[in-house]
Amino acid sequence: MVESGDVAYLMGGSKPTAQLEAVADAFKLMHYTAVGVGPIDIRFGETYYKTFKDRGIPVVHVDVTEHDGVQPYLIKDIAGVKVGIVSFGAVPPDRKDDFDLLKRRYLVFAEARRNCDVLILLDQGSVATDDWLERNANRFGSPDIVVGGGTRILMQAPKQIGQTMVVPTSTQGMYVGRVDVEIVGTEKKMTYARVEMERTINDEPDVLAMVNAYMEQQRSAWGRSAAPAVVTAAEAFSSYQSCIPCHRSQYEQWKTTRHAAALRTLMDQNKAIPDCLPCHSEAFKRTARIAVNPDQLGGVECASCHSNVLPHGADFRKRGDTGAIRAQCPECHTKDRSPDFDPIAAYEAVKHTGK
Ligand code: HEC
Ligand code: HEC
Ligand code: HEC
Ligand code: HEC
Repeated sequence: MVESGDVAYLMGGSKPTAQLEAVADAFKLMHYTAVGVGPIDIRFGETYYKTFKDRGIPVVHVDVTEHDGVQPYLIKDIAGVKVGIVSFGAVPPDRKDDFDLLKRRYLVFAEARRNCDVLILLDQGSVATDDWLERNANRFGSPDIVVGGGTRILMQAPKQIGQTMVVPTSTQGMYVGRVDVEIVGTEKKMTYARVEMERTINDEPDVLAMVNAYMEQQRSAWGRSAAPAVVTAAEAFSSYQSCIPCHRSQYEQWKTTRHAAALRTLMDQNKAIPDCLPCHSEAFKRTARIAVNPDQLGGVECASCHSNVLPHGADFRKRGDTGAIRAQCPECHTKDRSPDFDPIAAYEAVKHTGK
């Protein structure tokens, strides 16, 4: 079982690495063979490598900068078949064209290829594009399986490039990809299946207990014990309530949208925790506290889209800068949280006048 990377978010708060540690604990319980390194993971710095090392899970990453506990590739003997795992992990943008790194990728890749029967390439660095695979097949050999990163979450089915099967990657563990490899003589027959986690897999009691403990710890750090603080409009955050007197019709329309219920969504799931709140609560984003209003509304609020004209009063004159509004959407409607987001249709749905 392998994971290409981007396993947790780096969140503010009392212990910003708590989510990473929880994920690593869960991976240990699930006996992961190896993890790669994604663009979000590198923001954890050395903590990322240490967290997995402490739990005995190898991090694979072809990088010129050696990190403690990291290996460029590894080989596992599975029933007499040598399975290699090599990883083109993410590197900071300023090292993208680093010559030593490029050279090392080729060397390590070719060595891993020579030493195993089945080679899995973890590609959070988005190096192994279709073109790369075609160009290098003759020189260095092809990987058998490529597990990519964020750039491949929209793939619906695997893609065959020469000898290589490029598999789709899931987000938030919604599904696990499974490839069965049958070796007959020199032929490899690979079959891909997508295992939907929610529908077909029962919770593993140990992992579930661990996840619940993590959630509980997060809630007590922010929610219950700190008795959800009500943020008033006087603070840095402008609550929707302060807009109602002058913009009632916009308020009446906003009230009917999912945005107005975004905090409620988390409360109902008992997930009003820092991992989720920044996109579901404007109050949390701005004040690190949540605003629980008597009308149960709130979350993605007027200020989430209109901060460019705030604050203002009765003497304000319209600017009509819609670009500033549009620029807010992708902050929360990211590819992984909102894969079907259609900016044009969505804009029509949230603007208060026309439908
Ligand atoms: C601060 C984060 C944030 C910003 C900024 C944001 N959204 Fe959202 N949006 C959300 C969340 C969270 C939900 C889901 C709320 C829920 O269901 O609890 C959502 C839901 C929606 C929905 C409803 C989806 C559905 O299927 O019903 C639409 C449409 C939408 N947003 C459009 C937009 C547009 C257009 C913009 C920019 C003008 C925008 N959003 C800006 C966080 C945000
Ligand atoms: C990067 C911003 C972001 C983060 C972080 C985030 N969400 Fe959301 N969430 C969204 C957006 C945007 C939507 C609306 C998705 C859509 O309909 O396109 C959404 C929708 C939802 C929905 C409604 C889905 C549905 O269709 O019913 C739930 C439930 C939800 N989020 C829970 C969570 C939980 C739990 C967490 C934390 C583990 C979380 N979210 C973290 C942005 C985020
Ligand atoms: C998800 C983003 C979003 C949220 C949340 C939001 N608005 Fe808007 N708002 C828009 C868009 C889009 C327009 C239309 C801009 C245009 O195309 O002219 C708009 C326009 C407006 C205008 C200009 C007049 C008009 O109706 O076109 C006012 C006033 C306004 N919003 C107030 C509010 C208030 C008050 C709230 C909270 C109750 C709110 N908005 C919440 C996106 C949002
Ligand atoms: C005391 C009255 C008052 C309050 C309170 C108020 N506004 Fe306004 N707002 C105005 C006036 C006046 C205009 C300009 C209308 C015009 O020029 O047609 C305006 C315009 C806007 C526009 C249009 C901006 C543009 O350039 O297109 C937005 C968006 C807006 N307000 C959002 C808000 C939000 C969000 C709040 C609450 C945080 C809020 N307003 C609170 C009076 C108010």
